[in-house]
Amino acid sequence: MTTARRLRAGALAHQDQFAHYAARKTAAALAATLPLLVTDFDLAVDNLPAIGNAWTRRRFDGGFYLSPAVNPDWPACSLVFVQSVDGNTGTPSPAALGGGATDTHVIYEGLSQVTADAVLAGADTVRGGDVVFGVWHPHLVRMRTALGQPRYPIQIVATLHGMDLDAPMLFNLPELRVQVITIAAGAYKMHDQLKARPWIQPIVMKRAEDLPRVFEALRRAGVARISAVGGRHLATQLIDAGLVQDLYVTTSPRPGGEADTPFYPGSLPARVLVRKHGTGADAGVTFEHRVLLN
Ligand SMILES: NC(=O)c1ccc[n+]([C@@H]2O[C@H](COP(=O)([O-])OP(=O)(O)OC[C@H]3O[C@@H](n4cnc5c(N)ncnc54)[C@H](OP(=O)(O)O)[C@@H]3O)[C@@H](O)[C@H]2O)c1
Repeated sequence: MTTARRLRAGALAHQDQFAHYAARKTAAALAATLPLLVTDFDLAVDNLPAIGNAWTRRRFDGGFYLSPAVNPDWPACSLVFVQSVDGNTGTPSPAALGGGATDTHVIYEGLSQVTADAVLAGADTVRGGDVVFGVWHPHLVRMRTALGQPRYPIQIVATLHGMDLDAPMLFNLPELRVQVITIAAGAYKMHDQLKARPWIQPIVMKRAEDLPRVFEALRRAGVARISAVGGRHLATQLIDAGLVQDLYVTTSPRPGGEADTPFYPGSLPARVLVRKHGTGADAGVTFEHRVLLN
């Protein structure tokens, strides 16, 4: 089979896979029982923008705050994490840490992404798992449409060494906008695979430390808000570069995850703006919106 025929056949298989994936994600969101969160405190000032519709406000117990970007030349950027009670985030299946269904469907695949122009993930969060980032519950899909956002945010993946683009579904769906942040060596390694996928845009940095330059380029290209979904290695660099304003952290009531995998090593200069607790099946879960003191 020629390369072009092989790619066409592969694209059809991936499209089929994506249709099943989307149907599965939507069905899971619709079937989930979503215990209500209850606010312990909310210290937001009146002019901080909050989003939500009647459906999310009931389950999240109020509006979901989004801080403006710290630098007008960068997109605003939030980080969303679920951690075990002993502070671990590393696991092939973050939902298994025990953050609960409301965290998965209302916060993670929900309020943290519903306004985002782009979702940003580290290579190890994408590698090996067939993911497409976005919201799935019809209430959130409608909210995104009402906000004038396309169905799926731009999918941005960061890799220094380069990735095999053939396998993950995310790189093989021409209807998605995908960007890959890398350095010259990574771009060289992916050259042929990128050439065969004109819908993927590489963003090539001089050095791994150039994430602020990448944010400038994204802002110039119209990206105003990024939802970064981890993992911890990329998250730590984003935080250290001062690129993150909001941290949405859900803590499960039980220990677990891979040992020594906090989303940030050491103490973080942040203040807790909002704290909530889970109810029903999510009793013992806490949610915090922390604002980083950049
Ligand atoms: N609990 C949660 O909420 C949560 C959230 C996300 C992920 N996770 C879990 O966490 C684990 C993955 O986290 P992780 O910290 O190991 O990996 P990660 O942050 O997802 O990815 C790290 C990779 O990102 C690339 N990278 C790092 N810095 C970069 C830079 N400056 N520019 C461009 N690319 C850069 C490198 O890719 P290359 O190796 O390709 O060079 C690096 O190996 C998985 O188990 C995942 O399921 C949990």
